[in-house]
Amino acid sequence: MSTFVDSEPLQGCWYPVARADEVHDKPHAVRLLGEDLVIWRDATDALVVAPDRCPHREAPLSIGSLEGGVLSCAYHGWAFGADGKCVSIPSSGPDATIPPAAHLGCRKVDEKYGLIWVCPGEPTMAIPEIGQEADPAFRRINTPVEAWTTSTPRLVDNFMDFSHFPWVHTGTFGGAQDPYVPKIDLEQLDDEFFGYRYEVEASNPDEAVAVSGSEEDTVHRVMTTGFSLPFVVRSTIRYDDGLEHILLLLSTPVDDLNSLFTFVVWRNDDHSTDPDEIIAFDRAIGAEDKAMLEQVPGTLDLSRTGVANVQSDKPSVEWRRRFAELIGFSE
Ligand code: FES
Ligand SMILES: [Fe+2]
Repeated sequence: MSTFVDSEPLQGCWYPVARADEVHDKPHAVRLLGEDLVIWRDATDALVVAPDRCPHREAPLSIGSLEGGVLSCAYHGWAFGADGKCVSIPSSGPDATIPPAAHLGCRKVDEKYGLIWVCPGEPTMAIPEIGQEADPAFRRINTPVEAWTTSTPRLVDNFMDFSHFPWVHTGTFGGAQDPYVPKIDLEQLDDEFFGYRYEVEASNPDEAVAVSGSEEDTVHRVMTTGFSLPFVVRSTIRYDDGLEHILLLLSTPVDDLNSLFTFVVWRNDDHSTDPDEIIAFDRAIGAEDKAMLEQVPGTLDLSRTGVANVQSDKPSVEWRRRFAELIGFSE
């Protein structure tokens, strides 16, 4: 199995492709499931997402210029406004009829959790609900959208796996963790997420004090980790003093072998600590995952026998099984 991005069912899912605050006065180029897209905001600030290909002679629209919410192609100046409608063809003069083929075929777009989400086809699933978004006790912290040179199934497999913590995360929280993984029971955690509950003694180095709120050498964490198909993983952490830290780990397939990754944090702390300090520790953890995953070639084999599995792989194997079913993969 070397390709999954062409699978039809993935066209009906939502993918975070950029931070909402990084798209304003310039066209923004992204690649999603092997397709180049351009994103901009029209005159009313509504997002427009269309193929990054001018219908005239196929110049990338993302190198065009944006003025008053109208995007002009750099090649012959055709201009596109709300809903990707072509509003001007300079060579035809102001009174000419605009041919229907000049309009752009737009993709569905939504703004949620500080991110721009795109659905390339007709949506068949919703963006997962995170209840803490509407809870005033929690604040949300966004992080940069990064390009990772790894396949998206490998990212999700990694986020569902905790047997790598004492090996990959030695520089952050994993050093104190027993490598032995007790039997894992999987369950439906809530309406959206399927996964497991567990407890860990996590290392609590100086850099983690801002995030854990504790000065002890190790902290006790009650955690859940679960997935929502196709690629969303949520990890919840509750410390003994009631502090909760929700992490939404978002992986987007650029193509079969490349991904975008970002995470969003919700916390019920007193909101006094600088957000950059809070996310610095999680970003260091992410950098450890990135360094490992970028060494692993190819995409994850979806067949049952393609890779060896043991009991601690149960959560990621279950994600892989459901993902394979979603995309209609057959061995
Ligand atoms: S290629 Fe865009 S206007 Fe000609
Ligand atoms: Fe990790």
